[in-house]
Amino acid sequence: MKGKTCVITGATSGIGRAAAVQLGRLWADLILTGRDERRGAALVRQLRRDHASGNVHFMRADLSVQREVRELAAAIRSRCARVDVLINNAGARFDTFQLSPDNIELTFATNHLSHFLLTLLLLDKLQAAEVARVITVSSGAHGSACGDFERYFRAENYDRKAAYGNSKLANMMFAYELARRLRGTKITSNAVDPGGVATNFARNNGFMSWMRHIGYHALKRELVSPKKGAETIVFLASSTVVEGISGKCFSRKREVPSSPISQDAEAAKELWGLSLEMTGLDDLSK
Ligand SMILES: NC(=O)c1ccc[n+]([C@@H]2O[C@H](COP(=O)([O-])OP(=O)(O)OC[C@H]3O[C@@H](n4cnc5c(N)ncnc54)[C@H](OP(=O)(O)O)[C@@H]3O)[C@@H](O)[C@H]2O)c1
Repeated sequence: MKGKTCVITGATSGIGRAAAVQLGRLWADLILTGRDERRGAALVRQLRRDHASGNVHFMRADLSVQREVRELAAAIRSRCARVDVLINNAGARFDTFQLSPDNIELTFATNHLSHFLLTLLLLDKLQAAEVARVITVSSGAHGSACGDFERYFRAENYDRKAAYGNSKLANMMFAYELARRLRGTKITSNAVDPGGVATNFARNNGFMSWMRHIGYHALKRELVSPKKGAETIVFLASSTVVEGISGKCFSRKREVPSSPISQDAEAAKELWGLSLEMTGLDDLSK
């Protein structure tokens, strides 16, 4: 990965942090993002100390705020001539209904719209790479989602699991629709289901909520370490085996099927339109 620029959102913790460490060991140049400046700076110090890695930078941004996503994209654009790998990883679940500063339901804003906006704003930097890979981290939780995204935008309908599942379905549909729109270009787009991973996921909702998440996966005997959880992302970012493969979902370094609705191209087009409307973007990738 020497000389390749990888952008990783949500690199201050869990799966994103582990992916940063592994890609650092492969000598990638890293742009790492998160909200926590202190943890970001500590990670950069650790990477520079422990690994003979390339350039490593941390950029702070709250991805639930569209202005901050735009500022992040501008900062990346001014630092990097091109982006070889974009890893859309940051994500969260919220036990209660909350609105982002843009007045958008927080799960959808944080997990989906953020990465939709960031990817489209970096599209020409991805096009500038010899070949580029966009990797969007979804979840097995997409499987039970109905795809009625707007239903959970209202406080009275809020269901934390459904809101999260739908945001992860949106990640999956976005990855596939991007692949369709970029067919014939040098950019591939794939989704990842990392499985149950022992991270800080759900900790924002308090200790019990966090333990419920960990316990659920532990009881199913499927809980893995962040290092293991990041392996498929690193595989998709760096392996020649997946060269040219686009519009697929991967788990444990293998292509896996995703839910029928995630593969519905018409529904994905609708979601694309809704996302353009909610971010105020022109369709840069038409
Ligand atoms: N853990 C699992 O079992 C599991 C399973 C399936 C899918 N996933 C997915 O894996 C991805 C990574 O989650 P994780 O398990 O590694 O959780 P984590 O340990 O909580 O890490 C989440 C990362 O996202 C960042 N983040 C959260 N909200 C953000 C915001 N508003 N703006 C910017 N960055 C934000 C956090 O950084 P800051 O706190 O610094 O902002 C952190 O670096 C998520 O997309 C999640 O949906 C996880």
